[in-house]
Amino acid sequence: MIQIKSAEEIALMARAGAIVAETLEELKKLAVAGISTSELERAAEGIIIKKGGRPAFKGYRGYPASICVSINEQVVHGIPSGRKLKDGDLLSIDLGVFYEGFYGDAAITVAVGRVSEIARRLMKAAEESLYLGIERAVEGNRVSDISNAVQKHVEAAGFSVVRSFVGHGIGRMLHEEPQVPNFGTPGKGARLLRGMALAIEPMVNAGGWQVDVLEDGWTAVTSDGSLSAHFEHTVLITGGSPEILTKVV
Ligand code: MF3
Ligand code: CO
Repeated sequence: MIQIKSAEEIALMARAGAIVAETLEELKKLAVAGISTSELERAAEGIIIKKGGRPAFKGYRGYPASICVSINEQVVHGIPSGRKLKDGDLLSIDLGVFYEGFYGDAAITVAVGRVSEIARRLMKAAEESLYLGIERAVEGNRVSDISNAVQKHVEAAGFSVVRSFVGHGIGRMLHEEPQVPNFGTPGKGARLLRGMALAIEPMVNAGGWQVDVLEDGWTAVTSDGSLSAHFEHTVLITGGSPEILTKVV
């Protein structure tokens, strides 16, 4: 069952989403060479709580932190640690907030100092693919219309989309139906209706799509060691244009 959100529920999700977006904005400014990822974690937790939210990831299936920090060949679910950011690192930050019964979820990838040409192209293709996917998140389309738009753009740029992690419905739970893969042929899956909320989240590898999970049980890395980027928004299906809920208001 895909949940349809009422106007009141949407207002709460928009507040959750705003806290996510505002926190990511702050973290983006802090992501400079020399800062450790656990310092980013502490900052994130402080900002979320000050804004009246609760970190959504902490304790989720045993995840130990409020944010995921995935550097270079790390794809998603990197755990904050004493590791310090270095000039040239490609850093993905994924963040979820729980507010008044509802979740918001978003991710950005940022360049630490000066990054390589390939890193810049990868970030650009990944972010563009998110927005092309969002454009397809309209009433009457099917889930895989989003998936296909993401995949086509990423592959046209010469990169690949991760298969083993997908986007998801979101609302009273962090992960709801439907799954939103970043690959597939159009016209498949559930039909989109106004009031549905989706977390669309392309994970894009510079090399092959295969990933491995490290011994810590969380950190996903590219199998070939290539760079990876991740962008995510929580998006509402409306009667008109899709509404991005994880935006600064
Ligand atoms: N954006 C990711 C997701 O929705 C983050 C989950 S991290 C976890 O799946 F720690 F909460 F699992
Ligand atoms: Co998500």
